[in-house]
Amino acid sequence: MTISHNLMTTRNSQEPKLRLAVLASGRGSNFEAICQAVDEGRLHGQVVLLISDNENAQALERARKRGIKALYINPQSFASRVEYEKALVRACQEVEADIVALAGYMRLLGKTFLDEYHLKTVNIHPALLPAFPGLHAQKQALDYGVRFSGCTVHFVDEGVDTGPIILQAVVPVYFDDTVETLEARILKEEHRIYPKALQLIAEGRVVVEGRRVRIIGDEHGDQDTQP
Ligand code: GRF
Repeated sequence: MTISHNLMTTRNSQEPKLRLAVLASGRGSNFEAICQAVDEGRLHGQVVLLISDNENAQALERARKRGIKALYINPQSFASRVEYEKALVRACQEVEADIVALAGYMRLLGKTFLDEYHLKTVNIHPALLPAFPGLHAQKQALDYGVRFSGCTVHFVDEGVDTGPIILQAVVPVYFDDTVETLEARILKEEHRIYPKALQLIAEGRVVVEGRRVRIIGDEHGDQDTQP
């Protein structure tokens, strides 16, 4: 049986903007790209919260500069992962987040969080999944010798980078690439497709059918669903 799930069907038409919470552990360039897309009207949303598990994350700084609520939630200060995830849920609920976007968030989310934000949590991964999940995806691609790599925006499930794929973008891999040059080429595409995927969600055009994601109006596609 195919389970079809239109993400935004329950949205109140009085409040059309997608309310986004972002979870980031480090630099925050994807967070910045999402904010820029909002500023430039390419993403009909509002970033209402940035949460980090790392006190020194540049992402926290970026959020504060923009006047976006920025929370450092220290996982070590909770008795268990369940309690930590409950705190994440509370923080996201407090700001009435519709979608939680992971952007370089270096932890796996479990049942406690995903029961609340199932098919409402998305992630960006710097490889063409299902190839090279987990850490150091760009190095994995380089070491393997693939001719093409790229990035993937996907829904988050309890696995490591295993949820249904929303968008992907492809970049070439050159023989003289280093991890850094490949990383930079992929990152540019990350910054392009992450806001684009969120905008598709905001438009109510993202429908999950089992493992597959239909982009309404783009079934034959050019929304980074085709090379
Ligand atoms: C990105 O490459 C993203 O794909 C991966 O972690 C990195 C985060 O970069 N999940 P930034 O913090 O968004 O600059």
